[in-house]
Amino acid sequence: MTGTDRPWLDPALGTEERVEALLAVMTLEEKVGQTHQVANITPDDEDAIRSGAVSSSLYASGATAGNERDEGMLVANIDAAQRLAVEESRLGIPLLFGRDVIHGHRTVFPIPLGMAAAFDEELAEECARVAAAEATLEGVAWTFAPMMDVSEEPRWGRVAESLGEQPVLAGRLAAGMVRGFQGEDLTDRRRLASCAKHYVGYGLSTGGRDYNTVSVGENTLRNLHLRPFRDAVRAGVTTVMAAFNDVDGTPMHAHRRLLREVLKDEWGFDGVVVADWGGVGQLVRQGVAGDLRDAARLAIEAGVDLDMCSDAYTAHLADLVHSGEVEESLLDEAVRRVLRLKVRLGLFEHPYAGDLEGSPAPTDATRALARRAAQAAHVLVKNDGVLPLDPSGEGRVLLSGGFVDEGDALLGTWVLDGRGEEVVSPADALRARFGEASGTPFGERLDVLDGRFPDQVLELARRATTAVLLLGEHRGRSGEDRCVTDIGLPPGQLDVLRHVVALGTPVVAVVYTGRPLDLTEVLDLAAAVVVVWHPGVEAGSALADVLVGDVEPHGRLPMTFPLSVGHLPTSTHQRPTGRPIPVERDRFEGRYVDALTHSRLPFGYGLSYTTVEYGEPTVEPATTPVDGGRATVRVTVSNTGSRPCRELVQVYAHDPVADVTRPEVELVAWRSVELAPGESREVEVEVSAVDFAYTGRDLTERVDSGEIVLLTGPDSATLRRTTLTLA
Ligand code: NOJ
Repeated sequence: MTGTDRPWLDPALGTEERVEALLAVMTLEEKVGQTHQVANITPDDEDAIRSGAVSSSLYASGATAGNERDEGMLVANIDAAQRLAVEESRLGIPLLFGRDVIHGHRTVFPIPLGMAAAFDEELAEECARVAAAEATLEGVAWTFAPMMDVSEEPRWGRVAESLGEQPVLAGRLAAGMVRGFQGEDLTDRRRLASCAKHYVGYGLSTGGRDYNTVSVGENTLRNLHLRPFRDAVRAGVTTVMAAFNDVDGTPMHAHRRLLREVLKDEWGFDGVVVADWGGVGQLVRQGVAGDLRDAARLAIEAGVDLDMCSDAYTAHLADLVHSGEVEESLLDEAVRRVLRLKVRLGLFEHPYAGDLEGSPAPTDATRALARRAAQAAHVLVKNDGVLPLDPSGEGRVLLSGGFVDEGDALLGTWVLDGRGEEVVSPADALRARFGEASGTPFGERLDVLDGRFPDQVLELARRATTAVLLLGEHRGRSGEDRCVTDIGLPPGQLDVLRHVVALGTPVVAVVYTGRPLDLTEVLDLAAAVVVVWHPGVEAGSALADVLVGDVEPHGRLPMTFPLSVGHLPTSTHQRPTGRPIPVERDRFEGRYVDALTHSRLPFGYGLSYTTVEYGEPTVEPATTPVDGGRATVRVTVSNTGSRPCRELVQVYAHDPVADVTRPEVELVAWRSVELAPGESREVEVEVSAVDFAYTGRDLTERVDSGEIVLLTGPDSATLRRTTLTLA
């Protein structure tokens, strides 16, 4: 074909026109090709690419096997594969290269749960923008992020990838990430298509076991689990990934109601629904399809547009259309969505990445951002006054534990391109800090010993004034398929803590983790506890910044920390029962006969190095229209201590009389304020009537007139009430 025969290559035409022009000339086989995604492209795929039988690759590793760690290799391979598609296939449709760029590309940011602790959508947006700018240099055009599964289940390893348990927080952060990845204009060559995943209910995997079944009604889905997805769709996310789980017996890859009717028809999502890895083929094992052919039929009917790695569409769709079992219009719709994405990304104009200039390696600027993000992820949950440390003061400090010299272990769960050797380790950062203070290279007051020899640790701890113990999980213990039954510290760590404390040495426990842990004994024993998740490439620097008080700790817990694994699920999703447990009587009358029911650390909790007091909140106006009304919550917040702080003022809501049971507290808004020592400020937080919308029994969204209880305070368990009337 010549140039004029190919109107889809004309950027002056509109997207839909280009897509339709292409669709009109495609053979059935070429259409099926656009629904087929492979993992890696290998030399064996060359003919398939030439014939138009491959649409996309998920690991973006290119046409020749190569060592991806060599600079430039990734992009060279990708461009080589792309050349086959663009220059040697009949229609020249470019390949779409995806990759899991989840919490950074080369500059690795904190895990998403750590990012959520910052409660900062602009920060999330900025980190996503940097990740996109780095990944596109290597030929990547699409990332499978953000994940926004709402979960109250710390045993489930994938909470590390989540944006916290509260739907408004997860939705706002997800929307920020979508903006950061995609930008205003997706043809910007330094932006990526993004993917809202995993649609939907995956965070409810029974027993916290990955890939497990989910039993939940549509009302709870809509009021909780679907909300962040709707926020991402409103923010313009271009792809959505189906989840591995079933929902009440229907696997998501066959869930016509939720994929086609809710996501596509009701919400108007016009992007690509991509399967999760092998998800179409798994319909056979899930027991709703007899074979792969049947699975392909169910998935295309349900609305899965792109088959990730199960080969079901490429093997069977053409035949299913020939035999009349699948309408060709269903296939056309899937192809249209994939082509629309390729046009939107500008791939027809700029299929290659090799001409982009720059290196994806961390720079001073991206490191500064990663450091700011890691600082914001630090959540101080206890402090007897031992923190901040003073590197120029008296006494000796011991730094020990399993992560002292670590790089790779602190990067976090989803790292394909980050490099352990690029991480600033805790030892390096603290040595530098103590060295600077004492004028010697390693500091005279800091002992550093990794945790391998507990006897030696105890010896040094005996003479230390403070011991900083780096505890918690290696990054490999959380994430996909990393579920646990015991959410305590890994074996041996508590023993060391107990022994050091028994010596009388105050301990600062630094906890690396991808999930809420049972920290009950750590909180009882240690003088100070900081939860730092897996902080990424600037792990050590951010830790040093916070421990010595160059930065005031300001992160807040984005998930509830339970009293024990037996208390799960414990979370802010609790709806009222007919027999509520009055807080003051919990001790005597809880729902367990062997334990209290409250959490160990509530959602939203986090301290600073000063003390903060809240006054009585007010709301104005006290009555606002149910339709479009707004109001301002005001509360006076005072820094009553001697250090500055960044306080996160949180506003929760409870709807006391509704069509369905509504959560006892649900985060609706928050505001971060800086307060100097002794400063008092009246903080204003805006709320809107639409913030109190919910889905009623008839599955439609509503905002009721009547009272809304607004609860304001420093965390979800320390709240003062005021009432807003919607009229
Ligand atoms: C499976 C995971 O569930 C998903 O989150 C990821 O994006 C894909 N694999 C691709 O690696």
